[in-house]
Formats: sequence, C-alpha cells, structure tokens
Amino acid sequence: MRIDIVSLFPEFVTQVAGHGVVGRAQERGLLALHGWNPRDHAEGNYRRVDDRPFGGGPGMVMLIDPLRACLAAARAADPAPAKVIYLSPQGMPLTQAKVRELAGEPRFILLCGRYEGIDERLVAAEVDEELSIGDYVLSGGELAAAVVVDAVARLQEGALNDAESAAQDSFAADGLLDCPHYTRPVEHELGTVPEVLMSGNHAGIARWRRQQALGRTWQRRPELLDEAALSAADRKLLEAFKAENP
Ligand SMILES: C[S@@+](CC[C@H](N)C(=O)[O-])C[C@H]1O[C@@H](n2cnc3c(N)ncnc32)[C@H](O)[C@@H]1O
Repeated sequence: MRIDIVSLFPEFVTQVAGHGVVGRAQERGLLALHGWNPRDHAEGNYRRVDDRPFGGGPGMVMLIDPLRACLAAARAADPAPAKVIYLSPQGMPLTQAKVRELAGEPRFILLCGRYEGIDERLVAAEVDEELSIGDYVLSGGELAAAVVVDAVARLQEGALNDAESAAQDSFAADGLLDCPHYTRPVEHELGTVPEVLMSGNHAGIARWRRQQALGRTWQRRPELLDEAALSAADRKLLEAFKAENP
C-alpha cells in the first residue's frame, strides 16, 4: 500500500516509521511512504505557508494554495485514486475498525495541520474525512499521522512475523481487550506465572485466555462488551470471572 504524507515536517513521520514493524513493512515492499512539503509549492522568496486569521485572534492559519498544489502533486504521483484524510482534533476518533478499513485501501493521503489549523475552504474542497487520535490538542498532525501509519502498517499481510498476533490483539475482530501475557522466569519475586499456561493443555490455555480477555474488558472497558458478539460459553466464562473478582 502507498501512504502520502503532506506536512511541513514530512520527515518527522517518515523517520518515526523507519523502525520496527513499520520499517520492516517498508523493507518488505508492503508499504511505501512518501513525504510532501507544502513549502516546496509556496511562492515568493519566503515560501510562505501561513498567514494571520481573518477576524483577529492568536496564531496563524495554513494557506490554501501551497497545500492545494502539494495535494495535487501527491495525487498525481500515482494513478491509483487516493482519499485525503486530515488529522484533526475535530475528526472522528481513530478506532481499530477504522484502521482495518484503511489497511484495505491501496493508497491514501494524510494531511497534517500546524498552527491554528488549515483554511477551512481547503478542508471543505479537498478533504474526504477527518480523523482524531484523541480528545487533546497536539501542535501538529505529524504524530497523529505516524500513529495511523503504524497501526495500518502492522495489518499489512506479511508485516508481522506471526500474523496471529494481530488477530489476538485488543480491539481485534471480537472487540475485546487482549489477555495478559507472561514470559520467563516462571518464579519471580513479583509473582508466579499462572499454572494453566505451562500445562500444555491447549484447550485449557485457550479457555483461560478467553476468560481473561472477557474479564479485563469487563473491568477496564465494560462498554466494549455491549458491542462484542458473546457466545453462551463466553457469558459463562465471564460470570465465573466476575464471581472470582468481585
Ligand atoms: C494546534 S492544532 C490546531 C487545533 C485547532 N485550532 C482546534 O482546536 O481544533 C494543529 C494541528 O495539529 C493536528 N492535531 C492536533 N490535535 C490532534 C488530534 N487530537 N488528532 C489529530 N490531529 C491533531 C491537526 O492537524 C491540527 O491542524
């Protein structure tokens, strides 16, 4: 898949994405990231990309024309159509379901704002959707774009060494939180690994993990259970968990 990043600091995103799973996804040819800087499309000696807001008030607003030209260049760089996603605190919240949807696209463009944001006319004319990574305000869209790139890259087939791990993560298809994980040593001053995990009983381990996932979701994010499709067996496991963890 191809992701284009339109930003005053595109290397901010491409550098963050150069490590770990996302870096590997690029090396394996599963993901191509391309940075575009609106300053390269600005005119005049100062290559100005912002100006004062009409109506007064603090801060600066990103100009229409450099962004428009930059978006046009990014679009034209590949024949596949690409929707434009503006990272914005006013956007729809980014969820794993949205990440799964984006991971299936052949390409999209991430537009990062700075200052007070982007001239609303550019947003109205060029942006297909707005995404927020949470109810707080960052100084720029780059960190948010890096979050989208990371979450989408790890879902590309072949990006993770074990594809099963994404299927078992929190917010996977079943909508639950993940179960707890343990590794060596078995005995530690901080505690002992639950016995069932060393029993070799695969059905027992799967049941324990499912119960932990259900229980954790109930303890930490009970609202997720409303959306999860729970079987009769799941409900029994959850009731048992509740009885043991009142
Ligand atoms: C300082 S913010 C502008 C905030 C804007 N004045 C507002 O209150 O909605 C500058 C840029 O950071 C990005 N940004 C800030 N918070 C974000 C969030 N929670 N999710 C995604 N992008 C965000 C957006 O691209 C935004 O244009």
